[in-house]
Amino acid sequence: LGHPARHLDAVGSTMTEAAAWAEAGAPHGALVTAAHQRAGRGRWGRTWADAPGQSLMLSLVLRPALDAERLGLVALAAGLALAEALDAFGVGAQLKWPNDVRVGGRKLAGVLAEATWAGRRPTVVLGAGLNVEQAAFPDALADRATSVRLVTGRPVERLAPLDPFLRRLEARLADAEGRPARLVADIEGRLEQRGETVAVGFPGTDRPPVEGRVVGLAPTGALRLATGAGEVALHAGEVTLAVP
Ligand code: BTN
Repeated sequence: LGHPARHLDAVGSTMTEAAAWAEAGAPHGALVTAAHQRAGRGRWGRTWADAPGQSLMLSLVLRPALDAERLGLVALAAGLALAEALDAFGVGAQLKWPNDVRVGGRKLAGVLAEATWAGRRPTVVLGAGLNVEQAAFPDALADRATSVRLVTGRPVERLAPLDPFLRRLEARLADAEGRPARLVADIEGRLEQRGETVAVGFPGTDRPPVEGRVVGLAPTGALRLATGAGEVALHAGEVTLAVP
């Protein structure tokens, strides 16, 4: 992963750059990074704002050997790979299903996966944004966001986690394709909300939130919840703590 690579200064979004490159035939593993995004995208149509030069922002073109049912494992593998890469920096991150990497309840990184299909072969543009060098956040974010620098108390260069992340992701994508039970078990080991009662909402839709206790993950990466009406497995959604 990471070859070929384009390291850009400022872009709209690396997702758009990588998607256009994929469309033009970029191979599995092609990488786009940017020092600044003018229109960074998050999940659920949200924006992802950055302080120029302080975050690791990247998108990868991936062509995994996974069917539609298991494609969600790609984003989960990326979250786990980020957490594992950050272990070497002394971070000790947890995962908030499906796409956030967090420390002490504050968000350190987010993952965004966008898939297209040509016949039965998926192309995934996998994006990740990791706060690295920020020494502080704007007031509105201060209690929700953190950075590698703030967690470790040491200055860390924006691109330092890139290679460790790509190496861990390579291994974890191989797990997704070949031994998903191993991948899922290791994600469960870092799952922040395991055993807790949560509400899972579906922003932008009429679907009512589902409340239940987090039991773990299904082999597809779906979130297993024990609800009053039995166990359910959710393939997407946004987790918040349930109102008591
Ligand atoms: C989220 O937390 O909702 C996902 C955030 C993903 C942000 C990254 S930054 C690099 C890539 N380019 C984007 O526009 N978004 C992703």
